[in-house]
Amino acid sequence: MPRRIIIDTDPGQDDAVAILTALASPEFDVLGITPVAGNVPLDKTVLNARKICEVAGRPDVTIAPGCPRPMVRDLVTAEYVHGKTGLDGYDLPDPTMPVSDRHAVDFIIEAALSSGHKGLTLCTLAPLTNIAMAMVKAPQIVPCIREIVMMGGGHFEGGNVTGTAEFNIYVDPHAAHVVIGSGLPIVMAPLDVTHKATIKRGWLDRVGAVGTPACLATEGWLSFYERYDIERYGDTGGPLHDPCVIAYLLEPELFKAKRVHVAVEIASELTMGATAMDWWRMSGKAPNVSVLHDIDRDGFFDLLLERIARL
Ligand code: RIB
Ligand code: CA
Repeated sequence: MPRRIIIDTDPGQDDAVAILTALASPEFDVLGITPVAGNVPLDKTVLNARKICEVAGRPDVTIAPGCPRPMVRDLVTAEYVHGKTGLDGYDLPDPTMPVSDRHAVDFIIEAALSSGHKGLTLCTLAPLTNIAMAMVKAPQIVPCIREIVMMGGGHFEGGNVTGTAEFNIYVDPHAAHVVIGSGLPIVMAPLDVTHKATIKRGWLDRVGAVGTPACLATEGWLSFYERYDIERYGDTGGPLHDPCVIAYLLEPELFKAKRVHVAVEIASELTMGATAMDWWRMSGKAPNVSVLHDIDRDGFFDLLLERIARL
């Protein structure tokens, strides 16, 4: 029985690779994609989600646009990483597939309630605004959610948008506070694991050599995307953050995890959006998140290539 998932996303080249991998995997029943404002404004994340589905040969996927801004703070975007379009590096034609007339928040609520008890998995690749707003509007969806697998946060690796905060949490820390405080089973892929999932040049060449539209797009997108991180982190290659979420659901044995208590800083401007992880269990607070902290890098990239080449 395929796992029913919704992918909440702000594409973003790394989001695009995660979405392609999910759409290529029969293990998933992708109920829909819910773009949110993040890497670029909402109109561009919606457009990019449509382009990604079309290059995957999946114009049938439901795309339900979400929130155009965080719950409390002003929107912060990341064109400096992803380019002006949010999907720089490979041009695709303007999409023709439709956009749902349902708002992402209502789509998530309807999908959760129709999925029944623990029937729906949420894969979050972006600021958590849509997810938190759905939980606030309809708390009764919480028992319907099997687990949330999210890219976000950082501990030993610090932050990538401030010294202490990772982008997805920083953009909407209040949403992250609501979601992490929901009591749901949460698997978190923070910078501590995604910074070990850095693109290898040879791998990207193998992707391009497949020659399919999805693989050519992936090579173009990631060749553009990794330039920023190589400048910042050195020539270890760009970290493939969001595909860790999908890869975990496909092959959890590729990762090592530790259950710890995690809370989000929403008071101090100095550390706003930091994920405070009680790594050595000093607080006495019960662990509430399974934090991924290590990865079989070769197995991860082999999985991504094998799946995307199927499209
Ligand atoms: O910090 C990395 C995260 O922020 C990724 O999800 C990337 O796409 C951006 O949204
Ligand atoms: Ca993202």
